[in-house]
Amino acid sequence: MIRSVLALLDIRPAHTRLIAERHDLHRYDLIEDKQKFLVEMGDQIRAIVTSARFGVPADLMAQLPNLEVITSFGVGHDLIDLEACRARGIRVSTTPDILTDDVADTAIMLMHATLRQLRAGDDWVRSGKWAAKGPMALARTVRGRKLGIVGLGRIGQAIASRSIPSGVEVGYFGRSKKAVDYKFFEDLVALAEWADILVLACPGGAATKGIVNQAVLDALGRAGIVINIARGSVIDEPALIRALQDRSIAGAGLDVFDNEPNIDPAFAQLDNVVLYPHLASGTVETRDTMAQLVVDNLDAWDERGALITPIV
Ligand code: 8YV
Repeated sequence: MIRSVLALLDIRPAHTRLIAERHDLHRYDLIEDKQKFLVEMGDQIRAIVTSARFGVPADLMAQLPNLEVITSFGVGHDLIDLEACRARGIRVSTTPDILTDDVADTAIMLMHATLRQLRAGDDWVRSGKWAAKGPMALARTVRGRKLGIVGLGRIGQAIASRSIPSGVEVGYFGRSKKAVDYKFFEDLVALAEWADILVLACPGGAATKGIVNQAVLDALGRAGIVINIARGSVIDEPALIRALQDRSIAGAGLDVFDNEPNIDPAFAQLDNVVLYPHLASGTVETRDTMAQLVVDNLDAWDERGALITPIV
């Protein structure tokens, strides 16, 4: 038994119960007086359960002097200070691979929904415009388009391999050229100039903050669309909203935003975006498997002082 585990969220009810059965679990999200709890209990916490969305706030970590391990539900670690963890000898695990397929599927879904105007089509049927006005305006095909992927990691590659059968050409921008046949771009503006569809699949964090800026959106151009399943921080969001408002790009399909879940209200006024509530990995099957890996990482730490999927 790990004495004591601090969970910042309920990863999945059944898995949170498993953690509570096996370890001394405290639900930080349910504690009213968090400061009092930290003063009284902070030095007893050995493990944190968190998620890509919550990370570990620096002021919380500073109040846990005996923290040994952070097990995160998700793959993004932009909200965990890995350097601080290394400096303190705190080990960190995530849940890689499991979510790759669902996240890639979501990127493809948002791409088709944006190109084929799924929202407008749904409204055309529901509102009775179909019966009253006849057929809706035609959309654009995906076939023959150039798909520019920003970040050709596991998820980026899964998006690429799903796109090829749809008749698209794939190019990518990333830190390094990979052993793949897709066209490599050393420069993000050059990728955007080449691409019709720009898909963001890179990690969040300082290194990618705002890399999709005004110049990139200008290069993508009036027929271009942006799909983001990475992090809101990767795009200069005010620039994206302006580009969508003045139609200097054609549209966007977005699963992630700045300031989730209180996103910029301007998005809701736009008819050329498809919005999704950061749910790319959000299927029952994938989330259950991710949650089981969090449980297994904690157990592995407890039993043999090792993590199954460490990143630090
Ligand atoms: C989850 C994610 O939304 O893994 C990531 O980086 O953003 C997601 O899969 C999140 O971890 C669940 O809260």
